[in-house]
Order: sequence, then C-alpha cells, then structure tokens
Amino acid sequence: METVLSIKNLNKKYGKIHAVKNLSFNVEKGNVFGILGPNGSGKTTTLSIILDVINAKSGSYSWFGQYPSKESRKKIGAILEHPIFYPYLTAVKNLEIIADIKGIKYNDIERVLHTVELHDRRNSKFKTFSYGMKQRLAIAAALIGKPEVLIFDEPTNGLDPKGIAEIRELIINIAAKGITIILASHLLDEVQKTCSHVTVLKKGEKLFAGKVNDVLNISDTIEISSNNIDMLKLAVKEYDKVTDIKKELDLLVVNLKEGTTTFDLNNFLVNKGIILSHLTVRKKSLEQQFLGLLTENE
Ligand SMILES: Nc1ncnc2c1ncn2[C@@H]1O[C@H](COP(=O)(O)OP(=O)(O)O)[C@@H](O)[C@H]1O
Ligand SMILES: [Mg+2]
Repeated sequence: METVLSIKNLNKKYGKIHAVKNLSFNVEKGNVFGILGPNGSGKTTTLSIILDVINAKSGSYSWFGQYPSKESRKKIGAILEHPIFYPYLTAVKNLEIIADIKGIKYNDIERVLHTVELHDRRNSKFKTFSYGMKQRLAIAAALIGKPEVLIFDEPTNGLDPKGIAEIRELIINIAAKGITIILASHLLDEVQKTCSHVTVLKKGEKLFAGKVNDVLNISDTIEISSNNIDMLKLAVKEYDKVTDIKKELDLLVVNLKEGTTTFDLNNFLVNKGIILSHLTVRKKSLEQQFLGLLTENE
C-alpha cells in the first residue's frame, strides 16, 4: 500500500475551542476517504490544515510520505465550499485563468470539461449555470493538471436531489480513474454511497475509523437457535441470502443481505422442517450511535 496522506496527533485550537484533538489517520492510494461528523466536528479545520491554509497548534502531516512542499501541493486538487469564478466569463475562459495560475497548458481543459459533462456548455457564461453546474465546473478546475488527490468539503451542500446524485456519481467516476479522494461530509448516506473508508469525528476527536462496510455496517444481525444447533447451522449455510454465520454458545448469529428479512429466513427454515426456539434482531448499536451523533447538532 502507498500512503498518500498521513496525519499524526494533530491539534488545533481557536481560543478556548479545541477544534481538532490529537487526530491521526492515514489515507492510502485509491481510497475514497470520508471524514464524517456533525457540523462543528472539525472537518473543515482538518482540511484547512492539510491544505496549508491554516497552521496546526501541534502534530504533523505528510503527503506522499514527504514533508509538505510546493511539489506535493501540485498533486492535490481541492474543491472547497464556495467555488469562485468570474460570472461574466465563459466556462472555458474561467478554466483558462485557472490553467494559467497552475501553469498548465490549455489543452487539458477539453479533457476536464468532458469529465464533468460540461463540454457542451463550455461557451456559456458562468452566471447562467445552475448551482450543480457551478459545482461541476469547480471540480473541472480542480482536475486541471491531473492531480493525484482530490479533496472535497461538503460537495453536495445546497444542491437539489438531481444535483446531489450527479455530483456523487461524478466523484465515484473520478475515483474509478485511480484518483484518491478525501471527502468531508456531515451526511451518513453520502459517505456510505461514495466512500470506501471513513473516519468519524465528534468535537474534533476520532470516534471510529475503518472500511465503510465494516464501520458503517447497518445490515441486521439476527440471533437464532433451535433444539439442534448443528443442524440449524447446516441449514442456514444453504441459504444464499446469508452473508455471515457465527456460533455463540447455543445461539447462531447471522447477517442477512440487504432487503432480506427475518421473515424470509424463518420461512426458509420452516420449509426445511426446522422450528426456531429463539429469534431476535440485535440492536444496530453502531448505526444508532451514528444517527444520534450525526443528528445531535441539526
Ligand atoms: N476561524 C474560526 N474561529 C473560531 N472558531 C472557529 C473557526 N473556524 C472554526 N471554528 C470552530 O471550530 C470548530 C470546528 O469547526 P469546523 O472545522 O468548521 O467544523 P466542520 O467543518 O466539521 O463543521 C467549531 O466549533 C467552529 O465553531
Ligand atoms: Mg465544514
């Protein structure tokens, strides 16, 4: 694995507010890495530090295994909350200005306009764009010069449902090209839908971290038992809607594929002549913790 970003024991204070507390995590090449947390949990502050916009109080971070430099900065594209473009200039003209600033030839502009599906509107003035198109132009601007990493801060804030779906799909498409993505969001479903990995923040502190499928696993866990646990296990193994089976004392702990219910499982077993003596759904404690956490400040 190649580490793209490594953050170690980062701290940031604004007066009495400890915005980022001893934060450490690694982003590996190819990750779509979500930083998930409610408003005020320190996401933007963290991004601002790693983009060298503000200084940390203590701690360190490295890009591509090296001390941050002008060279490493060139490999990073960032789309922060409010894209700034000239309203009376066309999409192409705005991107030319950005290419000039980055010192990149204009021939990259065609490519990025295609990526964000704005090529047919390239000669329209920025002020005529919908909010979603403005956001896509901001992504195009960040893609100029082929960065290895793209950073998004709340990429779908303020967009309508169509715009939200378009931006999420675009992020997934960009990631499929091998670009590492770091995405800050207060939306659980946004991280679930777009990210491979996640770190969850609350008041500047890391609560959980790992693969989205592990950390944000919200499939039901079901306990079952019958008078013959071994026979039950054999029968459950034959059910193709089961993703995981564990034996715990006289119980089987089973995970089902999304959309499969305890009724389906029970029905399958009854058809095999097995009567359950026990069936309960275990509390989705992690999910509930998240939902509580993420709605706290709304
Ligand atoms: N420039 C600033 N001055 C003072 N406090 C700030 C400033 N920026 C952020 N904060 C505070 O730091 C905390 C983290 O903010 P922020 O990083 O913006 O969180 P998030 O992006 O997760 O919503 C919040 O309590 C916020 O009010
Ligand atoms: Mg923020």
